[in-house]
Parts: sequence; structure tokens; C-alpha cells
Amino acid sequence: MTSIMVLNGPNLGRLGSREPDIYGSQTLADIEQGLHKALPTDITLDFRQSDDEATLIGWLHEAADSRTPVIFNPAAFTHYSYALRDACQIVAETGTPLIEVHLSNPHARESFRHTSVISGAARGVIAGFGDQSYHLALSHILTLLERH
Ligand code: DQA
Repeated sequence: MTSIMVLNGPNLGRLGSREPDIYGSQTLADIEQGLHKALPTDITLDFRQSDDEATLIGWLHEAADSRTPVIFNPAAFTHYSYALRDACQIVAETGTPLIEVHLSNPHARESFRHTSVISGAARGVIAGFGDQSYHLALSHILTLLERH
């Protein structure tokens, strides 16, 4: 069965109560549930969250080894984690799609959020559409999978 990984970085486990004016009132579990509803029955979603950089790197290595497409919200690591960038590059080198997503539009926020060290290793970036950022990424990956 084909699987898609959805990886979420630090503090995203606090969605629902964390800065709802920016991130909305949905919890991460709500987002996961919404994505499950949009999935064809022959595709599984492997939805994970960690506040720990090393754990996220391990999951990206797993995605590279198993050629599992990734939807990735690196959260604050977006802006400074070269280690995660390198791990995303390892995924990219296998030809496996990795899409960077953000709930908010970091370019419309504080200047430190205007830089993503991840984007150059991502197939594409979707930001600013709340949970729809995840849905748009999922829709693209499903299109890619149908082409194979
Ligand atoms: C975020 C944007 C980041 O700047 C921030 O650190 C997050 C969430 C987003 O989804 O909008 O934690 O990745």
C-alpha cells in the first residue's frame, strides 16, 4: 500500500491553543483527520509530529530509504536548521517528492521568518492557506502518484 508521510516540527502539537489568531483553532489532530477524509482508500497517511530535530532527521532518512513522499511543516526549524535542510536534500536526491508547507504566510510576518533554509531542497512550497496548505500539497502528491 502506498504511503505518504506528513511530518510536523516543533510546537505544532500545540495548535488549537497556540496563537489562534495566526494558526486558527484547529488542532493538529483535526488537520490529520481532515487529510484522512481526502485520501483515496488505497493510500495511507503516516502523520507525525516532533519537537526534536534529531527525530525529524531520522524520519526524513526513513522517507528517503522507503521512497515515501513527504509533506513537511518544519515549523521554526524552517528558518535555521541546516541539518534538516541536508536531510531534505537526501530525500530529494532519491527523486522522492518533498513539499514544504506552512499554515501561515511566513513572508507576511517577522523578518526572521522570511528565510527558509528548507525551500531549496523542497519540490515546492505552499504557505498561508491554513490547513489547506496541507491539502494542496496532498493533492499534488496524489497527482504525482497517479502518473507513476
Ligand atoms: C509555521 C511558520 C513558522 O515560522 C513557525 O515557526 C511555526 C509554524 C507555519 O506553519 O505557519 O511554528 O511553520
